[in-house]
Amino acid sequence: MKNFLLAPSILSADFARLGKDAKKVIDAGGDWIHFDVMDNHYVPNLTMGPMILKSLRNYNITTPIDVHLMTKPVDNLIPQFAKAGANFITFHPEATNHIDRTLNLIKEHGCKAGLAFNPSTSLNYLDYIIDKLDLILLMSVNPGFGNQTFLPSTFNKLSEVRKRIDLNSLDIFLEVDGGVKLENISEIAFSGANVFVIGSGIFDYPDYHRIIAKIRQELKYSHVKSIH
Ligand code: DX5
Ligand code: ZN
Repeated sequence: MKNFLLAPSILSADFARLGKDAKKVIDAGGDWIHFDVMDNHYVPNLTMGPMILKSLRNYNITTPIDVHLMTKPVDNLIPQFAKAGANFITFHPEATNHIDRTLNLIKEHGCKAGLAFNPSTSLNYLDYIIDKLDLILLMSVNPGFGNQTFLPSTFNKLSEVRKRIDLNSLDIFLEVDGGVKLENISEIAFSGANVFVIGSGIFDYPDYHRIIAKIRQELKYSHVKSIH
């Protein structure tokens, strides 16, 4: 079976009990914590900064933290998130003047680097820099809010990226973000994603253990189910 990873997005967690809720979702089987950073400039919403990430580390959360920067600019935040304990830092190509320089900056600070694509962002941004990436994130909704509906155009886009990764034998995570639920995850996996950001599809359920177990079960049979 393929190695699929679940990255619960704490955007949908209870912010008044963020540490507890994050621990709960990890104990229930989450692999990474997906940490959405919004600045009310690149996207019309405002969320969390490096201080909050640091608080999660101080609360003994040792799981990989996958920072998704929906901010413009990005460079000044990279050292701060690295210092706070980020493992992955992903940014949108439209949000920086120099993509290659930003990727280098992330690596110089000891983190893995990701590039995020909005639904309408061209995959041409992968040209020339794909070999520098540890992660490619495809947004399957327009960024800014949780609990939106998965855009079906993402299926083809995922397959295209999967082809580019495999043809070049690259070791890159292919992550999908937005509207991923128990009901559509097997089809999404079939299109080539191997890391699944899930916010409302986990946090809106009372029993995280139960919903994560069901999601894993779906992933187990994703190939079988998708060809019918
Ligand atoms: C949206 C964020 C997502 C969001 C996904 O801009 O990047 O990570 O939390 O939430 P759901 O899974 O509820 O669509
Ligand atoms: Zn995200």
